[in-house]
Amino acid sequence: MTQFHSPNDHYRLSDGKFIPSVGFGTWQMPNDAHTSRAVSEAIAAGYRHIDTAQMYGNEEAVGQGIRDSGAGREEIFLTTKIGNGKHSYELAKASITESLRLLGTDYIDLVLIHWPNPREFRDHWQAANAETWRALEEFVDTGQVRSIGISNFLPHHMDELLKTARHKPVVNQIMLCPGLIDRETVAYCEARDILLEAYSPLGRGELLDAPELKRIADNHKKSPAQVALRWSLQMGFLPLPKSKTAARIVENIDLFDFRLTDAEVEELSGIETTATYLSHPDA
Ligand code: A2P
Repeated sequence: MTQFHSPNDHYRLSDGKFIPSVGFGTWQMPNDAHTSRAVSEAIAAGYRHIDTAQMYGNEEAVGQGIRDSGAGREEIFLTTKIGNGKHSYELAKASITESLRLLGTDYIDLVLIHWPNPREFRDHWQAANAETWRALEEFVDTGQVRSIGISNFLPHHMDELLKTARHKPVVNQIMLCPGLIDRETVAYCEARDILLEAYSPLGRGELLDAPELKRIADNHKKSPAQVALRWSLQMGFLPLPKSKTAARIVENIDLFDFRLTDAEVEELSGIETTATYLSHPDA
């Protein structure tokens, strides 16, 4: 089981780079000053890893929040994701150039293909992903992107990508929370040293009333959210909690003064939850 003692602890990616073990998620945060403030509050609270996406439409605000925080660019691990309409060599290249501009940075730590099978490319998603990946690999070669990965990919999508990939994906970002574990995708990634990043690690908040979570939280004198996030870490996942609330931003990284037992981790893995994927990767 993975040991984590501080928010400065990292996972080592298969390309040799290091990634901070908890990231701040920014989905559904608008491109405005509130988002910039949430990002700089997160950095002040100790997060060193910020996760955005072209389709979130907030890259400018996220970049501004990082600059406002006063942290040096090299101190922050920054992720963005290629939008669904950009799955070709040329479109992907242009979109990353645009992300660099909007984020106001000369490199991005990690770029992911956001979804494997967007409607626009449905009849040739395999070739579209291969071409997008080729564009990403060129950015790695120039150093403007440091690592590349995928999101919402199921095993059959990864099988296709790995046929032509020169650089292996280092992460797969999928929805993972107590009670919602796609065992097949998790096993596939673990066997290939592809780190699993957990989006919606709180089940979009739906999980937090689960009685098991509350009981375990009380035992450790922590909150249900903290227990769900600690579960992620002990499963070997990298949680990406998001909150626009200052106190919760702080709470969600205060995960390093307690440890769940193996039995608690197992119980949480099996809890009943209504939290589920918003859309299937092929639909
Ligand atoms: P808010 O942004 O208003 O603070 P997930 O990361 O699983 O998608 O969950 C995000 C949702 O959970 C948001 O609605 C967020 O609300 C809420 N949330 C985030 N952190 C906490 C927390 N520590 N306790 C309770 N709810 C939280």
